[in-house]
Amino acid sequence: MRNFVIVANWKLNGSINMISRFFEYLKFHSSIYLEKKTIIIAPPTIYLKEVNKNISNMNIFIGAQNVDINLKGSFTGETSVLMLQDIGVKYVIIGHSERRFLHNENNDTIAKKFFLIKKENLIPILCVGETEKDKKYGCTKQVIQEQLNCILKKSKKLVFKNAIIAYEPVWAIGTGLSADPEYVQLIHKFIKNHIEKHDFMNINDIIVQYGGSVNCSNIKKFLEQPDINGFLIGNASLSPQEFLKIIKITHDII
Ligand code: PGA
Repeated sequence: MRNFVIVANWKLNGSINMISRFFEYLKFHSSIYLEKKTIIIAPPTIYLKEVNKNISNMNIFIGAQNVDINLKGSFTGETSVLMLQDIGVKYVIIGHSERRFLHNENNDTIAKKFFLIKKENLIPILCVGETEKDKKYGCTKQVIQEQLNCILKKSKKLVFKNAIIAYEPVWAIGTGLSADPEYVQLIHKFIKNHIEKHDFMNINDIIVQYGGSVNCSNIKKFLEQPDINGFLIGNASLSPQEFLKIIKITHDII
């Protein structure tokens, strides 16, 4: 069976009340659908524990949306990998375009986070993807290659084992304009080939998700593409009805 991982990226959304309603709905309607796939919820850091409380007895994991490059010390406002680990977080999203562009994170910073997360035995979800301008000028593959190489060049091999890559074309995020599934398939194949060549991983073990305006009306065509191993979902993951529908459709097709 194809590896498949669905991640809800709640970004700067949520509240205690929303979390309680979200999981009430999931508990009442889900059961078997949650068993078969890896489901991860990434709420704002302040709500990680609240979500963790709500997922007990469900096949759902918690993920963080970001982490600092330091483990401890005088870094006001930051959260470290050790703290995430301490409260039961298993996955950490890094390199999201909103952090790259709104918080000036570059490939080197993201690589530091990647290695720190791996060192502490958590699983990084590394976001890569081109801007609209990159796409227009035919630089998509080059940009993605650079985003991957900053990690590949610092390691001997198998660095992407126990890691997830999320291909998120920046122009498709939050716009309602998802990328063409066949285009996504080509890019995913490119990412897998590049990692196989430089990281010596078995191509079938490489996990590449797609993210960018995924919703329950457009996922069927993505699921038909053999190299899509999951979704990173923003807006559509905030509604338990829509999120569960995505999980059910995935469950029926894969
Ligand atoms: P979106 O966000 O589904 O709202 O486009 C995806 C993401 O940014 O991870």
